[in-house]
Amino acid sequence: GGVTAKDALGDNIKVSEFLEKHGPGERVLAQGLKGDPTYLVVKENGGLESYGINSICTHLGCVVPWNSAEGKFICPCHGSQYNAAGKVVRGPAPLSLALAHADKTEDDTVALT
Ligand code: FES
Repeated sequence: GGVTAKDALGDNIKVSEFLEKHGPGERVLAQGLKGDPTYLVVKENGGLESYGINSICTHLGCVVPWNSAEGKFICPCHGSQYNAAGKVVRGPAPLSLALAHADKTEDDTVALT
């Protein structure tokens, strides 16, 4: 089963409001699957990307921040880097960041599965 993406206050994220607040290419942390913070992604054309990116580093589990200047996720713990889609481009991380399906529901919320 999936979960509904929530904001930092624990409220369900509304896709329409989310897209008003966040611009093309932004990656925004939401509360997602298994309680892991998950990035929701605004597409370059402004819509919600169909996948979310799990923020947990595959090395030792630090939350990996998005670095918009570099266009990468850069782990503060041991320097692993992931590209904009979460694919590992520099170790020591052994694997890419996990992806989730992010689907807009009829209620204007985001279902992560
Ligand atoms: Fe991210 Fe080690 S936990 S590089």
